Amino acid sequence: MPEIKAPRGTLDVLSDQSYKWQYIEKKAAATAIKFGCREVRFPTFEDTNLFQRGVGDTTDIVQKEMYTFEDKGGRSITLRPEGTASVVRQCSEHGLFGGLMPLKLFYFISAFRYEKPQAGRFREFHQFGVEVFGPSDPNADVEIITLADSFLKELGIKAQLYINSIGCPVCRKKYQDALKEYFESRKDDLCETCKGRLERNPMRILDCKSPVCQGIGENAPLITDFLCEECEAHYNVLQSELTAGGISFTKDPRIVRGLDYYTKTVFEFKDPVTGLAILAGGRYDGLVHEIDGKANVCGLGFASGMERLVSTMEREGLSFGEEPKPKAFIACIGEKGAAAARKIVYSLREKGIYAEFDIMGRSLKAQMKYADKIGAQYTAVLGDNEVDTGKTNLKNMSTGEQTEMSLCDISDGKF
Ligand code: HAM
Repeated sequence: MPEIKAPRGTLDVLSDQSYKWQYIEKKAAATAIKFGCREVRFPTFEDTNLFQRGVGDTTDIVQKEMYTFEDKGGRSITLRPEGTASVVRQCSEHGLFGGLMPLKLFYFISAFRYEKPQAGRFREFHQFGVEVFGPSDPNADVEIITLADSFLKELGIKAQLYINSIGCPVCRKKYQDALKEYFESRKDDLCETCKGRLERNPMRILDCKSPVCQGIGENAPLITDFLCEECEAHYNVLQSELTAGGISFTKDPRIVRGLDYYTKTVFEFKDPVTGLAILAGGRYDGLVHEIDGKANVCGLGFASGMERLVSTMEREGLSFGEEPKPKAFIACIGEKGAAAARKIVYSLREKGIYAEFDIMGRSLKAQMKYADKIGAQYTAVLGDNEVDTGKTNLKNMSTGEQTEMSLCDISDGKF
């Protein structure tokens, strides 16, 4: 055991597990592409201001959880705690908000939050995310939820969808006033962070992880009682269209989400066993303007935690497809055999076939044991005699059946 271990709250994906991640990523990309999204990549770290302004400086993420440091040039840098703000920054910087709409994007990222590590909660975690820019219509909310639903169904995951509307700045104002009045009466019991939030953003108290603040929040006024006409209508269309599309959901007026940028629709797909959100998102109509300064473009999206997807699928015994296994292992005896085995394997690989040969200088017995362990479908042994005659026996490892074949046919993958 090495003295230096992986940092707390991080995860190693070992080589015999990575196919599970690849399986999910492949399904995620295929689903996103089917819905017209294209992949984007962006830096792991950004100017700290981006998240302070984007995610919101009264959120837990910004106040307590960001990995922020000064670089050697004296700039304040933050390891991204999520992807949405970066995607908006990227599109703004490259002038894409003035171009063809809708703009539909997806990404795979690692994200960093200094949270208390526990089941399903990491300090470095990975997300598959989707962001769509342009549409203000609630049908776009349905589209993005449908994308999320298709993705989870594609994996076989049965998650429960919870939706809410958290209004717009117009209705939010009245709601914040009502919340302030409510929490003011319990001010002394709130945690220190929430006391500070009372003035600046009382809605954030509803998202506090302290059990005392959560308890107080249980009887707080609900945003859905404060929605303006437009937000109410938007929420109603969302519900009727989800129903029309056969997507079942539960309304949960207590979802506020942990990021400040949301407006109107918010949603979470929860694992019914752990109660954790495996995918979550919503609409953010003010974020582009907040970051870009000029463009007024609506946005919406979601992100799904890869670690949570993997562990839900493992627990439910869902398939991750097949772990890649070699079609052939070409064993050898002696130098002539080794050279021929290498040549055959290279030729098979050129034809796109996964094949292996010995690179450890092992005995024939050890080579065959290894071939069996890695699950090779076929094996063949090449020694001086086989090289001279140009023929060898190809063994089907699952049936034990042996067929004599020319080395040329084996090289051509004719088995
Ligand atoms: P979020 O709810 O903070 O939203 O994270 C989205 C998902 O990432 C969660 O539902 C969960 O599956 C996973 N996740 C979050 N934190 C952790 C953690 N500490 N450990 C493991 N998994 C975690 C966002 O990040 C928004 N950017 C989503 C979005 C995109 N909204 C609109 N567009």
